[in-house]
Amino acid sequence: MQSESASPEIIRPVAPMTVLRAISRAKDMILAGEAVAIPTETVYGLAADATNDRAVARIFEAKGRPSFNPLIIHVADIGMARRYVDFPPLAEKLAAAFWPGPLTLVLPRRKDCGISHLASAGLDTLAVRAPKSVFAQGLIKESGKPLAAPSANRSGSISPTTAEHVRDSLGDRVRLILDGGPCSVGVESTIVKIDGDRAILLRPGGVPRNEIERVIGKPLEAPAAAIEAPGMMQSHYAPLAPLRLNAMEQRSDEAFLGFGKVAGRSDATLNLSAAGDLIEAAANLFSHLRALDAMCAEQGLKGIAAAPVPNESLGEAINDRLARAAAPRT
Ligand code: TXA
Ligand code: MG
Repeated sequence: MQSESASPEIIRPVAPMTVLRAISRAKDMILAGEAVAIPTETVYGLAADATNDRAVARIFEAKGRPSFNPLIIHVADIGMARRYVDFPPLAEKLAAAFWPGPLTLVLPRRKDCGISHLASAGLDTLAVRAPKSVFAQGLIKESGKPLAAPSANRSGSISPTTAEHVRDSLGDRVRLILDGGPCSVGVESTIVKIDGDRAILLRPGGVPRNEIERVIGKPLEAPAAAIEAPGMMQSHYAPLAPLRLNAMEQRSDEAFLGFGKVAGRSDATLNLSAAGDLIEAAANLFSHLRALDAMCAEQGLKGIAAAPVPNESLGEAINDRLARAAAPRT
């Protein structure tokens, strides 16, 4: 039994058998109402049984998150999701096309679905997604529980894409971290709210807008009011150092986040993708921001300058996260 203040245990399974054992350990903790950090294809999540109010409260406590911010409920597949939400035809189409994968659907919450009202912040909708990760899928199936899981970082800071990021951010606030290596997508899921035959983009993310629009055969709508995306606070994903956007060059007191051919001094630059590949750039975004933050501290630099990233495909999610990271801190 670990003491409350011990640093987290990180399990990095290498063989299939140890993956199963790691999942089984995590399952025991989930069923005991504890939170466990797990890899998904987007970012690491801090997961707990979504039907258990106390377990969900542990997530908020560990993150230091304002409790009005609702959580995504992770399920194995559309069959499991149907227990908790209604699926209008548009949602069926999207789930069939993109699940398991980085798409979250906000749908009408079913009465008596058993999901903690704390997890959904008292809303009459639920955000659900089926993650594409051996660990997340294994844990959901083994425990038989829907998992509420926000990104596994302190509220407002950069989302973790490795087990080490989780440990650095949450420290002894998490007891177990399953290590699945770096996340393949690297930015959070795209969130689409389905309201009858309307599809509203609440957060750009791992599935590009154009791929979703191709499946639904019409443009995604913009949210009518901030209330539709309750968690989308302006300042988010913030590094410690101030961030300057659309920088074409690096000032002497800045670290540089390059993209494509736009690059800075070699001793204080990391390039999201020298080849200008947006998939590679998304996968690198959060770890590069962390590393540049550390570089600023080490080299006494005042901030981070970020090269422009084209606002197409995954670039929309990358630019959204960069804009939030650069927003005035609250
Ligand atoms: O990729 C991801 O989505 C990751 C991994 C762990 O799955 N999760 C993630 O969770 O990014 P989080 O908690 O950092 O962001 C969840 C977002 C918040 O902005 C929240 O406001 C929104 O989902 N959300 C949750 N339920 C909602 C609802 N019923 N209506 C509108 N927005 C909702
Ligand atoms: Mg987050």
